[in-house]
Amino acid sequence: MRRVVIDTDAGVDDSIAIAYASRLPDATIELMTTVSGNVPVSEVTQNVLYLKKILRLDVPVFSGADVPKSRKLITATEVHGKDGVGGYRISEGIAFPAWKTGGAATAIVRAAKKYGKRLTIISLGPMTNIARAVSIDQGAIKGIGSIVQMGGVFSGYGNTTAFTEFNIFVDPEAASYVLENGVKVTFVPLDLTETFFLPRNIVTSLLMKTGETSPELVPLFRKALNYYIDYHRHADKLDGCYMHDPIAVAAAIHPEWFRFIGSSVSIETLGRFTAGMTVADLRKKTVRGNSRIAVAFDALTFLDDLASRVFGARIGNSAGRRSCLRQRFTANFRDFLR
Ligand code: RIB
Ligand code: CA
Repeated sequence: MRRVVIDTDAGVDDSIAIAYASRLPDATIELMTTVSGNVPVSEVTQNVLYLKKILRLDVPVFSGADVPKSRKLITATEVHGKDGVGGYRISEGIAFPAWKTGGAATAIVRAAKKYGKRLTIISLGPMTNIARAVSIDQGAIKGIGSIVQMGGVFSGYGNTTAFTEFNIFVDPEAASYVLENGVKVTFVPLDLTETFFLPRNIVTSLLMKTGETSPELVPLFRKALNYYIDYHRHADKLDGCYMHDPIAVAAAIHPEWFRFIGSSVSIETLGRFTAGMTVADLRKKTVRGNSRIAVAFDALTFLDDLASRVFGARIGNSAGRRSCLRQRFTANFRDFLR
């Protein structure tokens, strides 16, 4: 049984990831913490509280950093909607005790001390809270099982600037601080998460077939996913959406579905055009590096698990299943010669 802290900037794919994690028999969510990223932390916190309510989770929630370690906050409301869930947000807010506001980092340290090696931190947003937890008690964070971070891109283009992935781009100083302080991080980068995506027709059929999914989850996911897919169709010309954060959850709870390499990762923080870049020399794999990088995974096993646990459905036909796999091309200059 893996004890889990989820630090999130929920967001649409974060919301699917939280529902997924809550239904994995090998994981127990002990704590959820919120951080500004996709949307400001106030919105993120309301989304997490709503998910906690409709998923009937008895899990403490603490809110965290409202701005990055040393930069202005840049959000992704165009991707996830102003409320982070495609405009679904319920009108009335959910009450949140004032003493929990800003308590994320100390709550993470408490969990690290309590569970030690049995704990995995699954970080689905910028690393601001993680860095704060390291600054509070580096030894406690070094003493846990692992930190699995959805983030980074090591080959090909980013999704925020040409060379950066959003979570690291938003707070490169936080990511750098964690690594520079000797805390090992397992990255689940775009190189991997962009080789999987859910076409609109698959999402539509999953939302129709929902079996055991709680009834409030379907309208939330329908609205949130349709907004998220519309963004991908406009921005990436893909009529579907990526499942970055659910894949990171799977990497944390089912590492047997993944292949990892050891590496040493540095975070660019000074570059005028490259700040937020995750830099690793992949020619040299090393077990003594500060990081592991997820480089491959059994996407169809993940697909079946996600579909059944989150949507109570299964995707029968092989063409539909194969349509969730995609090649991810880096720049191929030969294309420009034609
Ligand atoms: O780059 C994708 C990541 O940034 C995902 O975690 C998404 O939710 C956003 O936080
Ligand atoms: Ca996220």
